[in-house]
Amino acid sequence: MKPRVLLTHPLLPEAMDYLASQVDLELATKEIILPREALLARINDKQGLLCFLTDVIDREVMDRAPELKIISNCAVGVNNIDLKYAWSRGLLVTNTPDVLTEATADLTLALILATTRRLIEADRFCREGRFRGWKIDLFLGQELGGKTLGLIGFGRIGRAVARRARAFNLRVIYHDPNRQEAHLEQELGVEFRPLDDLVSEADIISIHASLTPESRHLISRERLRLMKKTAVLINVSRGPIVDEKALVEALKAGQIWGAGLDVYENEPAIEPELLELDNVVLLPHIGSATHETRRKMCFMAINNLLRGLRGERPNNLVEPNS
Ligand code: DGY
Repeated sequence: MKPRVLLTHPLLPEAMDYLASQVDLELATKEIILPREALLARINDKQGLLCFLTDVIDREVMDRAPELKIISNCAVGVNNIDLKYAWSRGLLVTNTPDVLTEATADLTLALILATTRRLIEADRFCREGRFRGWKIDLFLGQELGGKTLGLIGFGRIGRAVARRARAFNLRVIYHDPNRQEAHLEQELGVEFRPLDDLVSEADIISIHASLTPESRHLISRERLRLMKKTAVLINVSRGPIVDEKALVEALKAGQIWGAGLDVYENEPAIEPELLELDNVVLLPHIGSATHETRRKMCFMAINNLLRGLRGERPNNLVEPNS
């Protein structure tokens, strides 16, 4: 008998066909949001769960599924899962690291450029038929060469951003709870800074940390006050790392120059005032959204799931202290 698996939302078609050929599959919904009652109702007899960052997998969900063995998250971030409870129940939890590093780093650079060079405002200007000719002060932005990029979080994605930053002649400083060894810092051309020093020194701050209780509102009202007036804040990791209301205030008051956001504190809701501001670029959480990467994420999540269901050790196990 094939193992019973709940898939919360569709995967890419090719991946979903493959999964359906391997397990007894139930798709919870074709909609973007899976109502909680539907998740609770459908998980009950399942041995495997393949879910996404939009699904909150907490104690109540896990308790509904006495036969559950594995939770395979099709995302690198696992803040949507109560990890401690899953581990206490002996459940395997897996994620999809590595395969999305380059796509997310590319998008970070795209957001940095879109924000510093005001690309979205300028595009809107053209579409509105307002372009009447070249002008000396039309859409003046900020140059990257010689500026300081401050990376908060220096894991795989932070390091991939640092590599790209060198091509733009940016100086890179970073903060991470785990400081790199000196030879690696040298190799990557980066310097460590305590967090508050980084925040006040950087011209562009880019967040690449995981969301944990410690990192929630790491960019607080107080830290926004430490930033330069000309600074730009980029967030492609998780929204709650930034106090979004305080960010709106800082942007409105001209306390910082601009922001580029791919993620939001109460996703998919976006602070209404952000929508009114010109000095912010807003994207709908598309950091890893390339054909290549999303395909790899789907198959990685499936392989993790199948290995766990077969009683093998999945390749991308999320473990305490991993
Ligand atoms: C992740 O994987 O955590 C990203 O946010 C979505 O690709």
